Amino acid sequence: MIKGTVSDLLKSELFLQEVSLKGWVRTFRSNRFIALNDGSTIHNIQCVIDFENTDEETLKRITTGAAIAVKGTLVESQGKGQSVEIQVSEIEILGDSNPEEYPIQPKKHSLEFLRENAHLRVRTNTFSAVMRVRSKLSFAVHKYFQDEGFNYVHTPVITGSDAEGAGEMFKVTSFEANKAPLTEAGDIDYSKDFFGKETNLTVSGQLEAETYAMALGKVYTFGPTFRAENSNTTRHLAEFWMIEPEVAFMDLDGNMDLAEDFIKSVLAYVLEHCQDDLAFLDQRLSQEEKSKPQAERSEMSLLEKLRFITENNFKRVSYTEAIDILRNSKPNKKKKFQFPINEWGADLQSEHERYLVEKHFKCPVILFDYPANIKAFYMRLNEDGKTVRAMDVLFPGIGEIVGGAQREERLDVLKEKMAALGIDEKELWWYLDTRKFGTAVHAGFGLGFERLVQFATGMANIRDVIPFPRTPQNAEF
Ligand code: 4AD
Ligand code: MG
Repeated sequence: MIKGTVSDLLKSELFLQEVSLKGWVRTFRSNRFIALNDGSTIHNIQCVIDFENTDEETLKRITTGAAIAVKGTLVESQGKGQSVEIQVSEIEILGDSNPEEYPIQPKKHSLEFLRENAHLRVRTNTFSAVMRVRSKLSFAVHKYFQDEGFNYVHTPVITGSDAEGAGEMFKVTSFEANKAPLTEAGDIDYSKDFFGKETNLTVSGQLEAETYAMALGKVYTFGPTFRAENSNTTRHLAEFWMIEPEVAFMDLDGNMDLAEDFIKSVLAYVLEHCQDDLAFLDQRLSQEEKSKPQAERSEMSLLEKLRFITENNFKRVSYTEAIDILRNSKPNKKKKFQFPINEWGADLQSEHERYLVEKHFKCPVILFDYPANIKAFYMRLNEDGKTVRAMDVLFPGIGEIVGGAQREERLDVLKEKMAALGIDEKELWWYLDTRKFGTAVHAGFGLGFERLVQFATGMANIRDVIPFPRTPQNAEF
């Protein structure tokens, strides 16, 4: 008796062998044909029942969503679109699924409906494909960095520092209900929160990763990060996973090379290892595109886009060049930019980023050397005194996928910058130590993992690429 997964059996040629298999019923038709799925692949295996020898009661219990075990013979299939099927000799119902109550019926459900059933939506083709690709992509991330000699560092989730200086942090509280210490004004005194200190959930592991890069040379983090920004967009989550490499003795050019090579490499990995899931997602997306007006349809299919990215160079453009392009361009015959770019120094909005990527260059763009005053305190000041060695990688359909920089390694310049921004040296004394003792040129970046999964799967909404999305409306489950 061969115990296999659906994926193994569909690929095998073990004809006339006895096999056993467990999984969940997707559909049951004509009291005869079960489409069984066990999560190992997007495909179901057809299990054919000898209904004359199966009791009524069992037949009634074979419903969508039920868990079953089957034993039988693997045979060549006569049916269209499948190579093998199982001629069932024994069937056991392991767990019933009442069809009157089970929300995931064999029909097309809206993504909104499925978001409300985040604990069950992975039982659909779309979500199982997305989550398998997500899993393979995580593996590819580790594989890339481990192969390149990076050390994986676990940076803290609870921290006293605000790495981005943007104040978008969730406070950590250890107060018991109604026992929080109060300020004189009667508000909760968060400065005494985490066992007497003020702490928050990390917005980025970068500052801690920098301290490790200054000893281990090449490091990366890959963990959950949190942003208390109330943005309800298809690109933002309150809890997302970030990948943050940090490398000693590497400058901004090296950082751009690393980001480009890394992204191409992990996408090439999923193209090779997730062929069935990507073929399904490609089909799904082309169906969706058909419902859009011609002008809004994508010129390339999902698979074409993925191949294009892995095979072509990203365009590298300075902020100053980008501003010139934007000032002289008309995004559309009818429509102007909602926020026209009038002067150097303005922050780019997503409409500008998407114009550069999707209309002007028609490929991923790395923008670098941004004005100092629109970027974080830790970025290396350029000789011009007004720009910093920052870089953002912009992707078609996504916008910003990576934010990074060469770091300010000069203690005096860093202190001056912190003073100008009102950042207390005492709070970051440990960070400043890296500049006091054996400081060196170094650089790194952060890549939003869910935005990468969105690109790889073609899913339009970031809530559909993470198992249990945390957004301003939803922290259930
Ligand atoms: O540009 P950000 O804020 O950069 C940092 O946090 C740096 N400390 C990273 C570093 O240099 N080590 O965030 C980095 C990336 C963004 O480019 C975006 O892809 C993603 O993280 N990101 C989000 N993804 C989902 N939801 C959000 N709310 C996100 N905010 C940022
Ligand atoms: Mg950014």
